[in-house]
Amino acid sequence: MTQTGYALLGLTVMVAVLVAVLTFALLRFVAAARSARRSLRGGGAEAVLLSAALDEAVTRLKTQERAMSARAVASEQLSEQIVDSLTAGLLVVGGGGRVKILNPAGRRLLGIETDPIDADYRTLLARVPPLRDVIAECLTGHRPIVRRSLQVSRTGRSLHFGVTVSPLGGSGEAGAICLFSDLTAVIELEEQLRLKEALARLGELTAGLAHEFRNGLATIHGYSRLLVPDALPPAYRPYVEGIRLEAEALGQVVTNFLSFARPEKPSFAPVAPAAVARRAADELRHELPAETEVMIVGDFVEIEGDEVLLRQMFGNLLRNAAEACAAAGRTPAIVIAGRVDRARGVCTVTVSDNGPGIPAADRERVFQPFYTARSGGTGLGLAVVQKIAVLHNGRVAAGPSPAGGAAIEIAFPITP
Ligand SMILES: Nc1ncnc2c1ncn2[C@@H]1O[C@H](COP(=O)(O)OP(=O)(O)OP(=O)(O)O)[C@@H](O)[C@H]1O
Ligand SMILES: [Mg+2]
Repeated sequence: MTQTGYALLGLTVMVAVLVAVLTFALLRFVAAARSARRSLRGGGAEAVLLSAALDEAVTRLKTQERAMSARAVASEQLSEQIVDSLTAGLLVVGGGGRVKILNPAGRRLLGIETDPIDADYRTLLARVPPLRDVIAECLTGHRPIVRRSLQVSRTGRSLHFGVTVSPLGGSGEAGAICLFSDLTAVIELEEQLRLKEALARLGELTAGLAHEFRNGLATIHGYSRLLVPDALPPAYRPYVEGIRLEAEALGQVVTNFLSFARPEKPSFAPVAPAAVARRAADELRHELPAETEVMIVGDFVEIEGDEVLLRQMFGNLLRNAAEACAAAGRTPAIVIAGRVDRARGVCTVTVSDNGPGIPAADRERVFQPFYTARSGGTGLGLAVVQKIAVLHNGRVAAGPSPAGGAAIEIAFPITP
């Protein structure tokens, strides 16, 4: 072989080696590409799965969130309904003494018409000082105040509130939750019962005694009448006259007391208070000063009552009014006014006059038996009025009249 032949052979071998190397590299590249495509295909499925799982989790979370917010709205609505439906008043005071909640019953009881939220409770309750003070006591003492009875005055009426105040815990400044209800009707009922019991006891205890007393007085009076004054020495005549007059007066006192203390058995029937008042005024016409004016005004409804007792009640009130005016040298102008409060189920009858009035300090005790400020009085007229009012499940109170005199107010329950 020539030198050129050897060179050609060497070149051919080198080309063959190069081709082999290139073929091997190509094959490796194709294999790598295949494996990459395969692995790419597998990774995409995982990503799809992952995104599906994420989607599902998000949807589930959203559903849960929706359910939770629906539950929160429902529970907020329920608590609002509870607060609004409470028949007791609810007042919640937050930090700084700001009002957070005052439910409709509370507004009604306190007579608050403006928006109370965020108002200062001291300003809001300025017209109800006992309630304001009890909240202040809880806020400063951080201690609950349980079932305290407060007497508050609203639109001229005296009301009894039962109040419980609890400190409102939590972060920030201390607050208080105050629950209050109107116990006036309950307390008035208790008072009526107490009066009825007291009257029954008084009647039992004293009626027998007074009866004996009256018999003795009748005997004294009888004997004194048998004494003929002309047959007596002139010096003794005034004594006999004195015995007679005193026995008569005492007999009248005992009769009045017996009629007050005797247990009454009222016979109830529907009666019209205005008509009964008119009849009582007509019956008394001859007893009252000639120019006495008795006016009957306002609204009345029929009540369940004993007409005889009611006439006696109006009679006593008219007599008192006329006596008070006459003592002050005035012509009696008496007004009997009716008012019907269906919400409270009460028909109020007020007998007012233009006399000197009853001093504020005496307005409670004028109803006590034997309390009198008149020289000839027995002090039983208003005690009988109170007894008759109580027998009708009503109540009586004394106050001032617009004419500057006395006003006696009797509240009768209306039969539904
Ligand atoms: N309309 C009135 N105006 C002023 N004071 C009155 C009036 N009604 C009653 N009072 C006062 O109340 C007191 C008690 O009255 P009440 O009718 O119980 O007894 P009385 O009139 O004194 O005696 P009586 O037993 O004869 O009625 C009276 O003495 C009087 O001071
Ligand atoms: Mg009287």
